[in-house]
Amino acid sequence: MRTGDEMPRLGFGTYGRTGPEGVAAILEALESGYRHLDTAQSYDTEAEVGEAVRKSGIGRDAVWLTTKVATGNLGRGAVVPSLERSLEALGVDQVDLALIHWPSPNGETPLEVYMEQIAEAKAHGLAARIGVSNFPVALLKQSAEIIGAGEIYTNQFECNPLFQNRILTEYCDATGIIVTCYQPIAAGRLSGEPTLRRIGAAHGATPEQVALAWELARGWAAIPTSGRAERIQSNHAARDIALTQQDLDNIAAIPGGTRQINPDWGPDWD
Ligand SMILES: NC(=O)c1ccc[n+]([C@@H]2O[C@H](COP(=O)([O-])OP(=O)(O)OC[C@H]3O[C@@H](n4cnc5c(N)ncnc54)[C@H](OP(=O)(O)O)[C@@H]3O)[C@@H](O)[C@H]2O)c1
Repeated sequence: MRTGDEMPRLGFGTYGRTGPEGVAAILEALESGYRHLDTAQSYDTEAEVGEAVRKSGIGRDAVWLTTKVATGNLGRGAVVPSLERSLEALGVDQVDLALIHWPSPNGETPLEVYMEQIAEAKAHGLAARIGVSNFPVALLKQSAEIIGAGEIYTNQFECNPLFQNRILTEYCDATGIIVTCYQPIAAGRLSGEPTLRRIGAAHGATPEQVALAWELARGWAAIPTSGRAERIQSNHAARDIALTQQDLDNIAAIPGGTRQINPDWGPDWD
C-alpha cells in the first residue's frame, strides 16, 4: 500500500493459518476481496502471507500488510532486527503497519525502550505506520508522551458485540487512534445471540455478518479469520450490509460479556 492510504477496515486475520492450508485460506481471502492481512511474529504466518500475496498476482501496493512484534523481541536492540526478519519472511521491503503485540509482560521491559525502537523502525522505513495492540488507556497516554501524539495509528484489541470494551473504544475514537477489533466475531460464539439473530433475519444476514457490519459502521477495523472458503467469503460480504441506527442502538444494548483473551501476564485492563 502506498504511504498515505487508509487501512482497509475489513481485514483477514491469520492466526492459525499456517502451512499449505493456511496459504490456501489466505489466497481465498484475497480472491474474495480482502485487501488487508493481519499477521504477527508469534503466529508463524508471515511466510504464508507473503506466499499467498505473491500467488494471488495482486500487486504489493494493493494489499495492506500488518505484522506485530512479539513480546520476546521488545528488549533493547531487539525490535528493529525482529522486524527485518519479518520483512524477510514476508518477502517485502516494508509493512504498512507494525504493532507492538502486547505490552511487555509484567512490565519487564520499560515502555520507552520498545516504543522508541518501533518509532525507529518507522524512521528507517521498515514500517509505513506504527501502532500497538492490547494497550489500555494508561499505556496509550504514556506511549503518546514517548513517541508523540498522532504516531499511534491503531490499537488492536478484543472487541465484538459480546465484549464491547467501551472505555477503550471511546478513548481511541476521541483521540484519533483507529480501533482494530480482534475476535470480531467472538471466535464463532455469536450464533445464539438473539439481538444479532433478529437483526440478521431482517437483513438476510448471519449474526457474524451483523457483528462485522456493526464494527465497520463504527468506523473500526475488523480482522475475522476462518479456514473455510464459504465463511471467508460470507464474512467479507458483511461490507455490503447497511445497518439502521436502530440496529446499531440495539447492538450497543447487548449485555456485556467477559474478555476471552486474558493472559495472567497481560496489562491492567480498563
Ligand atoms: N493482537 C492480538 O493479541 C490478537 C489476539 C487474537 C486475535 N488476533 C487477530 O485477530 C484475528 C481474528 O481473531 P480470532 O481468530 O481469535 O477470532 P474470530 O475471527 O472472531 O473467530 C475465528 C473463529 O470463528 C470461526 N468462524 C469464522 N467465520 C465464522 C462464521 N461466519 N460463522 C461461524 N464461525 C465462524 C472460525 O472457525 P473456522 O476456521 O472453522 O471457520 C474460528 O474458529 C486473528 O486471526 C488474529 O489475526 C489478534
